[in-house]
Amino acid sequence: MIEVRELTKTYVLDGQVFKAVDNVSFVIGRGEMASIIGHSGSGKTTLLSLIGGLTKPASGSVLIEGKAIWSMSDDELSGFRNRKMNFIYQFSSLVPTLTALENILLPTAFGDHGENLVDYARELLGVVGLTEKENSYPSHLSGGQQRRIAIARAFINKPDIVLADEPTGDLDEDTENEIIALFNRMNKDAGTTFVIVTHNKEIAALTGHQLKMANGIVSDISRA
Ligand SMILES: Nc1ncnc2c1ncn2[C@@H]1O[C@H](COP(=O)(O)OP(=O)(O)OP(=O)(O)O)[C@@H](O)[C@H]1O
Ligand SMILES: [Mg+2]
Repeated sequence: MIEVRELTKTYVLDGQVFKAVDNVSFVIGRGEMASIIGHSGSGKTTLLSLIGGLTKPASGSVLIEGKAIWSMSDDELSGFRNRKMNFIYQFSSLVPTLTALENILLPTAFGDHGENLVDYARELLGVVGLTEKENSYPSHLSGGQQRRIAIARAFINKPDIVLADEPTGDLDEDTENEIIALFNRMNKDAGTTFVIVTHNKEIAALTGHQLKMANGIVSDISRA
């Protein structure tokens, strides 16, 4: 379960304090598919970074399975992030000097996983339709292909929670449908919880739990 309590994130712009996330509270249940929609600049990426432990809030708390992530030490938090949650970033985040397969395996380099995940990495490469690009470097991949590698990478550690920021933003409709089908499959088979930021109302409509963000404020539209 993800519990967000009175969460606020401020930025200072030209001497003015500006609330990118403004006293937000909501709960996303274990195994839920949740979406967050909202206009550009409404605070979606900021909110996801707070949930994922990548950005520190000004006030409020985020509890994952009852643990307050911002009360953890840096080591504890990074271990937690590595085991529990994975993040699909809005913009490409592949390491340019690693091949497609090596990028997918990158999260397994941290921590002791006790199993060889190369076969699973290849399976994920197949799921995102890029088996033939196993040895390609990011600079030789299209934007959409890089994104698909980043999506495959999010699953390598078999995370409990996937936080996806516009995961299908630059993909064609067929690939987009395949990615959503993959998310649904991971949700049903592995019980993975998803929080998906999207501009796409059709994708949002497919999720059981819909949140809407405007000017840093969240409303729970499917629970209203
Ligand atoms: N590091 C930062 N410093 C100052 N302001 C920031 C910073 N990051 C984000 N902001 C501001 O906070 C607001 C929310 O940004 P955020 O990236 O969360 O929006 P978003 O909803 O994800 O938008 P988009 O749909 O365009 O990705 C914006 O007004 C943005 O300019
Ligand atoms: Mg964003």
